[in-house]
Amino acid sequence: MSERLVKYTPPSWASHLQHIPKHFVQLATKPTPIQRWNFPGTPEQFEVYVKRGDLTGSLMTGNKVRRLEFVIAEAMERSCKHILTTGTVTSNQCRATAVACAELGLKAHLFLMSKEKEVSALSSDGNMLINRMVGADMCVIDTLSYTEACTHMEKLAKQIKESTGELSSIIHNRDSNLIGIWGYIQCFQEIRDQGIELDDLVCVSGTAATVSGLAIGNYLTGSGYRVHGIKVGMSCDPEEVLNDMLDGLGITGVTATDIASFHGGYEGLGYGINQPQELEFIGQVAANTGVILDPTYTGKAAYGLQGLLNDKPEVFKGRRVLFMFSGGAPSLHAAAVSSALLPHATKSQ
Ligand SMILES: Cc1ncc(COP(=O)(O)O)c(C=O)c1O
Repeated sequence: MSERLVKYTPPSWASHLQHIPKHFVQLATKPTPIQRWNFPGTPEQFEVYVKRGDLTGSLMTGNKVRRLEFVIAEAMERSCKHILTTGTVTSNQCRATAVACAELGLKAHLFLMSKEKEVSALSSDGNMLINRMVGADMCVIDTLSYTEACTHMEKLAKQIKESTGELSSIIHNRDSNLIGIWGYIQCFQEIRDQGIELDDLVCVSGTAATVSGLAIGNYLTGSGYRVHGIKVGMSCDPEEVLNDMLDGLGITGVTATDIASFHGGYEGLGYGINQPQELEFIGQVAANTGVILDPTYTGKAAYGLQGLLNDKPEVFKGRRVLFMFSGGAPSLHAAAVSSALLPHATKSQ
């Protein structure tokens, strides 16, 4: 499968950084379009655009796939046969990893955080249907702690090595971020190449990996956009994450607060929990624009964007605002998600 490894040459503005990957594997369909967006509630002085990150592929849709192009390439360079990752049952990261592994002939092992005891008791819809279809190895872990999940993953990696001699790669937050961030550094170059005049880039901030790559690209190129991350209630300090990345890439003399603005206040009831007004807004965006946002990440962030445009217009640098739609559509097909969304869908006449 090493024929899938493609030599990576970074953009010239990033060629002095540390941790430049040697290869990537092409998994995503790129470039994804940038479209003018008829975003509900846009005040007159603004124009909103959307970067259709959902169109990277039908099953490998979303922001995770750009990161996996580098993370999996690094694992393949080390001849790893197994990729271990963790998330909840609705995790887009797990689903994208499972699909990528099936495509590349690797084995995906998903550590799914749930109160259920057995994988057989977990749902078979949304991302879980895809995980099952592509034959990912799955186990349930009764924790929401990433550190504990890592202990489980390390244990399995050791067992696999002892029983088969095969190597595993664990997708660790920090180490993998320093590789995965190149997906978003490349994405920034893609936006530049698209040549659309913009003032502000707005992105959901979950683990802050995506927005960090864009902020670093913007800083290193001197493009002069203002980069915003909208927090969705994940227990993570985005400024710490971005500072860590700056440090890891060897970028000195600048800190997170100099290159990105992180906005709180739109977390609502907390990570993964929605208020009716957020779900209604997702319904309006779908009916007005044909873009279906997910409730956990992009829907909350877009709701936050609407709030900022109206209540704090001064946070924007200018008129032309690009929203990074980071995908996640398969999660909409989970019964729990669709039954929450449906009552807020625009009623047909
Ligand atoms: C659809 C979608 N958008 C955004 C995010 C958050 O991205 P990040 O963790 O890089 O901040 C996620 C994370 O899982 C996601 O699934």
